[in-house]
Amino acid sequence: MWLGWLSVAVVLAARATATEQPSWAYSPPYYPSPWASGQGEWEDAYDKARTFVSQLTLTEKVNLTTGVGWMEEACVGQVGAIPRMGFRSLCMQDGPLGIRFADYVTAFPAGINVGATWSKDLAYLRGRAMGAEQRDKGVDVQLGPAIGPLGRSPDGGRNWEGFGPDPVLSGNLVSQTIKGIQDVGVIACVKHFIANEQERFRQAPEARGYGFNISESSSSNVDDVTMHELYLWPFADAVRAGVGAVMCSYNQINNSYGCSNSYTQNKLLKGELGFQGFIMSDWQAHHSGVGDALAGLDMSMPGDTLFLTGRSYWGPNLTIAVTNGTIPQWRVDDMAVRIMAAYYKVHRDRSQVPINFNSWTRNEFGYLHAGVQEGYGRVNEKINVRGRHAVVARKVASASTVLLKNNGVLPLNGKEDFTAIVGEDAGPNLWGPNSCPDRGCANGTLAMGWGSGTADFPYLVTPAQAIESEIALKGVGNVMSVFDNYATSQIKSVVSQSTVSLVFVNAGSGEGYISVDGNEGDRKNLTLWKNGDELVETVASLCNNTIVVMHTAGPVLVDKWYDHPNVTAILWAGLPGQESGNALADVIYGRVNPGAKSPFTWGKTAEDYGVSILKAPNAGTKAPQVDFKEGIFIDYRRFDKMNTEPIYEFGFGLSYTTFAFSDIRIESLQAEPYAPTEGYTTPAPNFGNSSDELQFPSGFSQVRLYIYPWLNSTNLKEASMDPEYGLPTEEYVPPGATDGRSQPLLAAGGGPGGNPGLYEELFKVSVTITNTGKKTGDEVPQLYVSLGGPNDAKVVLRGFDRITLRPGQSTVWRTSLTRRDISNWDPVAQNWVVTAHPKTVYVGNSSRNLLLSAPLTSSSARL
Ligand SMILES: *[C@@H]1O[C@H](CO)[C@@H](O)[C@H](O)[C@H]1NC(C)=O
Ligand SMILES: *[C@@H]1O[C@H](CO)[C@@H](O)[C@H](O)[C@H]1NC(C)=O
Ligand SMILES: *[C@@H]1O[C@H](CO)[C@@H](O)[C@H](O)[C@H]1NC(C)=O
Ligand SMILES: *[C@@H]1O[C@H](CO)[C@@H](O)[C@H](O)[C@H]1NC(C)=O
Ligand SMILES: *[C@@H]1O[C@H](CO)[C@@H](O)[C@H](O)[C@H]1NC(C)=O
Ligand SMILES: *[C@@H]1O[C@H](CO)[C@@H](O)[C@H](O)[C@H]1NC(C)=O
Ligand SMILES: *[C@@H]1O[C@H](CO)[C@@H](O)[C@H](O)[C@H]1NC(C)=O
Ligand SMILES: *[C@@H]1O[C@H](CO)[C@@H](O)[C@H](O)[C@H]1NC(C)=O
Ligand SMILES: *[C@@H]1O[C@H](CO)[C@@H](O)[C@H](O)[C@H]1NC(C)=O
Ligand SMILES: *[C@@H]1O[C@H](CO)[C@@H](O)[C@H](O)[C@H]1NC(C)=O
Ligand SMILES: *[C@@H]1O[C@H](CO)[C@@H](O)[C@H](O)[C@H]1NC(C)=O
Repeated sequence: MWLGWLSVAVVLAARATATEQPSWAYSPPYYPSPWASGQGEWEDAYDKARTFVSQLTLTEKVNLTTGVGWMEEACVGQVGAIPRMGFRSLCMQDGPLGIRFADYVTAFPAGINVGATWSKDLAYLRGRAMGAEQRDKGVDVQLGPAIGPLGRSPDGGRNWEGFGPDPVLSGNLVSQTIKGIQDVGVIACVKHFIANEQERFRQAPEARGYGFNISESSSSNVDDVTMHELYLWPFADAVRAGVGAVMCSYNQINNSYGCSNSYTQNKLLKGELGFQGFIMSDWQAHHSGVGDALAGLDMSMPGDTLFLTGRSYWGPNLTIAVTNGTIPQWRVDDMAVRIMAAYYKVHRDRSQVPINFNSWTRNEFGYLHAGVQEGYGRVNEKINVRGRHAVVARKVASASTVLLKNNGVLPLNGKEDFTAIVGEDAGPNLWGPNSCPDRGCANGTLAMGWGSGTADFPYLVTPAQAIESEIALKGVGNVMSVFDNYATSQIKSVVSQSTVSLVFVNAGSGEGYISVDGNEGDRKNLTLWKNGDELVETVASLCNNTIVVMHTAGPVLVDKWYDHPNVTAILWAGLPGQESGNALADVIYGRVNPGAKSPFTWGKTAEDYGVSILKAPNAGTKAPQVDFKEGIFIDYRRFDKMNTEPIYEFGFGLSYTTFAFSDIRIESLQAEPYAPTEGYTTPAPNFGNSSDELQFPSGFSQVRLYIYPWLNSTNLKEASMDPEYGLPTEEYVPPGATDGRSQPLLAAGGGPGGNPGLYEELFKVSVTITNTGKKTGDEVPQLYVSLGGPNDAKVVLRGFDRITLRPGQSTVWRTSLTRRDISNWDPVAQNWVVTAHPKTVYVGNSSRNLLLSAPLTSSSARL
C-alpha cells in the first residue's frame, strides 16, 4: 500500500516534469515595511498604543513581539509580560469555531456552515458568542476566523474552517464574524495569509513524515490579478472590518515564505489594504530573524525557532538586532504599537480577565509551564463560559442545512409508521465525542473536521438521538437505528420494513499533521467514506422513501444515487457542531424551514473542478511548485467557463415554500470620479528611546527553554548564539528595508481595505421577492455581475441577503454595487479599473438560476 502510493507519486512527478515546467515564480521585494498611521477607526487606539509604547524599554517591546515558547504558558501562544507596567502576557488561542483545548465551552458549527447560511446576522451572532467565550476564559486573541484556504480545490483539507470558495460570500461573512468577536472585547486573527490552499507540502518536516523528501514548503504561485480579484479580496473586507491581527501562512508565495514575504505583507496587506493591526506567524512559520522583521512580521509564534528549542529568531535576537543597528528601532516600535493598537481597539484594557484555563490539561491542577513540567498549581478554574450559546449553535446549524432534493416527502411529522435510521454517521462515537485528539478520527457522526480548528464538545447530540426522541414523544411510530455501515443483512431487514429511511453518510478532512484513513489533512478523493455510496444504494433499492443526510467537509460525488427514484430527499448538514441532531430534527420535522444555499458547487466528477491539490512533488527535493494556472476560475466560475453542468450549483438550495422574483430596478448614484491615492507617509516615528539593561537581571530565575528578551552575554555575537552572526548586512538586509523616511502612498491604497473610492456606492439595485408558497420561509436573493471582459468569469457574486417572508408576503430587496464590485485589477496600473466592457447585473436564487437581469450603463454613473 505504502510502496504502491510512492510509485504512483514517482510516476506523477515524472509526468509533471515532462509536460509542465513549474514556473518558479518570483516575489519582488517591497520595502520598507509600512508603519501604522492610526488611519480610519484606529485613531483612538493608536493614540493610546503610542502613549503606552513610548514608556517601554527595548526589552519590554521585544517581550510584546515574541512568544515565550511552545507549551510554556497556559494558552497555545503567549508573548512575554511587562511586569513594570502591570501588563500581563497576551494570550492567543485557537480557533475558528470555538475554543480549542478548553472545557465548558461551546462547539459551534464550522465556518463552512456559516457560509451555507448566507446570513450576515448569524455570522455576527456566532462571532459574538465565540468572542464572549474567549473573553471569559481570559483569551486576548482568537485565532480565527479563517478565509485562507478559500477553497481553490474541493479536496483542500481545511476549506471547512472558512466560508466557501467565493470571495464575496467569504468577505461578507468574515467581516461580520470579526465584528462579532471584536465587539465583545477580543482581538480576531484572520488567517492564513495567503494562498494557503493545501495541507500537503505546507511544511517540509510534516511532508517528510509522510514520505515526501522535500526541503522547503510548497510555493503557491499566484498572478497579480488572481491575487486581487480572488484570494486578497476577503482579506480586504477583514481589514475594512477592523480586524486586529492577521496570521501569515506556512506556504511560500512565489517562492518566498508567507511570513518572510515583503510583497504580500508590506505591499499588499500593510501598504495597499492599509492594515493597522499586527501580523503574527503561524506556529513555526517564522523563518528568519532580521529578514522577517523587515518583511513585515510583527509577532513570532509560538516564539521558539522550533517547538521547545529554547532559541528564538526574535526574543534576544531582536534585542541584539536593534542594538547592533540591523533592524531600525522604528520597526520594533511599529510592531509594539500595532499589537497595542489592536489591544486598545477592541478595548482589552476594559474586558481582560485573568487566564483561567490551561491548554495542556483538563484537570484543575497541573504544571504552570507544561512544556518543561515546571511549576505546579491551580491551572484550570473550569469556568463555564457557554451562557445561552447553544441556542446560537443550534440556530446556525439548522439555518445551514441545505435541502438539495425533495420529492415532497419533507418535512416529516414524526408519526410515520416505521422510520429506519441507517449509518454510523447517525450515531455516537463509541469512544466518546472527544476521544480522538483534535477530532482526528472518523468514528460516529461527523460534526467538525480535525486539527487546530476544533473545540472539545460539551456534548454532541447525534442525529439518531434527536430523531428517536422526536418519534418516541409523538408516541405513534417505530424507529430502528443501525449504525454499522457494513451490517448489510441487518440493514436490509430494517429498511425493508420501513416507511421512511434516513441514511447518514459522511466525508471528513482536516489539518495536515493528522492523517485519518490515509487522508493526510486534504481529502484523497471526493467520494463518501466508509462505503457511503453502497450504503445509500442498498437502502434505496429496498425503500421507496430514502432520505440521504450528508455530513461532509465539502462537496462529495453524489452522481451514483442523487437521481435514484427512491432517493426522495437529500440534505447536506455540513459540520454542524454540538447541536447536530437537534438542528437536523428541526429541519426534518419542519420546525425550521430550510433556507440554506450550497456554499460550493457539487460536480459530477472530481475532474470537473479543474484543479485539485498538488499531490506529488514536482521540483525534485526543492519546494513543490503549485502554479495557480486556473487563475480566478475556481468552483462555479470554472463550471461556467467550461460549460460544465454541475449536479447542484453554487448558491442552490430548496425550501418548503416557493419564491418569485420580479421587477429589477437599477439606479445610478452620483459619485466622485475614482482618484488614485497620492502623497507620502510621515517619516517612521520612534516611540520612546528609553534604554535599559539588556542583560538578564541578576538572580533572575529562568524557566527552562523559555524565551526571554534579555541577553546572557555583553558580547552580542556570543549572546546571539548564531554562528552566522555579523555577516555583512548587504547579504540579508534588502535595499531600502531600513529607510524610515516618508514613503510614497500606493494608488490603490489610502484607507482601510484599500482606496476609499473603491467602497463608494455607484448603483442601487432593487428586486421584489414574494413568498408564493404556503409556509413562512427564508430566501437568499443573490446578485451576480458580469464584468464583460474576455478574461472575466461569466458571472461573479457581488451581493446577497437572507430574508424571511410569510406566505403571500412581498418585499423589496435593496442592495448596492460599489466601485470595487464592478472593477477589475489592472496589473500594469497597479490599481482597480472599471473596464469599458458592457456589464450586466443578474439577480436570482443560485449562480445558475439568474431570474432577472439588467444592463449597467456607464453613462449613468461617473465611474
Ligand atoms: C507572483 O508572480 C506573478 C507572476 O510574475 C506576479 O504577477 C505576482 O504579482 C507575484 N506575486 C507575489 C506575491 O509575489
Ligand atoms: C518578559 O516576560 C517575562 C514573562 O513572560 C517576564 O518574566 C519578564 O520580566 C519580562 N521582561 C521584561 C523586560 O519585562
Ligand atoms: C532527500 O534529498 C536529499 C537532497 O536531495 C538527499 O541528500 C537525501 O538523501 C534524501 N533523503 C531521503 C530519505 O531520501
Ligand atoms: C538567534 O537566531 C539564530 C537563527 O537565526 C539561532 O540559531 C540562535 O539560536 C538564536 N539565538 C538565541 C539566543 O535564541
Ligand atoms: C545583528 O544581530 C542579528 C541578530 O542576532 C544578527 O543576525 C546579525 O547578523 C547582526 N548583524 C550585525 C551586522 O552584526
Ligand atoms: C475509532 O477510530 C479509530 C481510528 O480511525 C479506529 O481505529 C477505531 O477502531 C475506532 N473506534 C471505534 C469504537 O469505532
Ligand atoms: C476515498 O476515501 C475514503 C476515506 O479515506 C475511503 O473510505 C474510500 O474508500 C475512498 N474511495 C475510493 C473510491 O477510493
Ligand atoms: C424502490 O423501492 C422499492 C421498495 O419500496 C423497490 O421495490 C424498488 O425496486 C426500488 N426501486 C429501485 C429503482 O431500486
Ligand atoms: C412507497 O410505496 C408505498 C407502497 O407501494 C406507497 O404507499 C407509498 O406512497 C410510496 N412512497 C413514496 C414516497 O413513493
Ligand atoms: C528617539 O531618538 C531619535 C533618534 O535619536 C529621535 O529622532 C526621536 O525623536 C527620539 N524619540 C523620542 C520619543 O524621544
Ligand atoms: C545563556 O548561556 C548559556 C551558556 O552559557 C546557555 O546554556 C543558555 O541557553 C543561554 N541562554 C539564553 C537565553 O541565551
